[in-house]
Amino acid sequence: MNIIVSPSFVLEEKLLKRNLDLIGYVAHKAEIEIIMALKAFGMWKIFPLIGKHVNGASASSLNEAKLIFEEMGVWAHTYSPAFKTNEFDEILDYSNHIIFNSFNQFHQFKDKVKSRQKEIGIRINPEYSPVSTSLYNACTPGSRFGVSVDQFPEQLPVEIDGFHFHALCESDSYALADVLEVIEEKFGRYFKKIKWLNLGGGHLMTRKDYDIEHLIRTLSDFRKKHQIKIILEPGSAFTWQTGFLQSTIIDIVENKNIKTAILDVSFTAHMPDCLEMPYKPEIRGAKEPNYSLPTYRMGGNSCLSGDFIGDWSFEKELKIGDTIIFEDMIHYTMVKTTTFNGVQHPTIGILKENGVFEVFKTFVHEDYKNRLS
Ligand SMILES: Cc1ncc(COP(=O)(O)O)c(C=O)c1O
Repeated sequence: MNIIVSPSFVLEEKLLKRNLDLIGYVAHKAEIEIIMALKAFGMWKIFPLIGKHVNGASASSLNEAKLIFEEMGVWAHTYSPAFKTNEFDEILDYSNHIIFNSFNQFHQFKDKVKSRQKEIGIRINPEYSPVSTSLYNACTPGSRFGVSVDQFPEQLPVEIDGFHFHALCESDSYALADVLEVIEEKFGRYFKKIKWLNLGGGHLMTRKDYDIEHLIRTLSDFRKKHQIKIILEPGSAFTWQTGFLQSTIIDIVENKNIKTAILDVSFTAHMPDCLEMPYKPEIRGAKEPNYSLPTYRMGGNSCLSGDFIGDWSFEKELKIGDTIIFEDMIHYTMVKTTTFNGVQHPTIGILKENGVFEVFKTFVHEDYKNRLS
């Protein structure tokens, strides 16, 4: 195996293929379409591989739609909280489904979409979500996402081909079944007028304990009952547990008996979900704190006081130069990184099935400089 340079985001090809096979199996058995939400993962050099397994991808912006079109070679399903007039024509160049967040936007752009023979969806808000983390709950009162049933017209405009909702986050198939019940109750009367229903993301079907057969039954029963095409657009499920972030300890400091290993990466710049959600990632070979063992915080190499997470215990004392591997650092990492403090951005690469580490991109001073002016 080639040496993995530190720091690096390392996608493991074998693990990605396992997820792709499972997602393909669900789509095939349930007779639905599963597309990849690009917002979770934008490592476009492997889009040709992903494109072989999926029915397409969903975009949230012109940039994502263009990347899907150019690198995966498929049309995007594009939804944005608000489309901008000056970008809309180009978005249509790369998309075959446009999903509007409001009837305002639908009325503003519908003629343009139909003149290009593309499909129109409207995002619905079921006002119900089992997601307890408010940062990821799209259906809380006052949410800016989607149209609630009380704002729906008696007659659905004929230009609308489908509905879209997003109400889950790292959820199981039983949570999906609950949401579908609410959707059916509130919006079922419109189903005869639409061709497709996009169930958004948050379906973590590649998690070990996920009940795949229940998902397949739920989806195919719903599809048959309403005679409607079902589309899923998970993000995390595609790259769940498919790789790691490798880093190195560059110093160890101690204050009031708390030892912090300062790394060549940063939580805020490279693993922002850890601070936003927040959650504590797994470190390879480390355990939950047991203060009879050597125990450390992990500190990011930025000046943000809160750029640390802890504690973890290790079998042996850590030392400068040791490798620290954060597990499951592929989805919602590379797409969210910043160059805050100018901290070196991790290299992006793939660990191939044959053990070779192929570097896709290393970051140099110009990458940092070119984001600024
Ligand atoms: C509209 C929409 N679709 C799909 C997704 C992907 O969700 P996940 O990565 O949780 O599967 C999101 C995530 O925020 C979303 O907002």
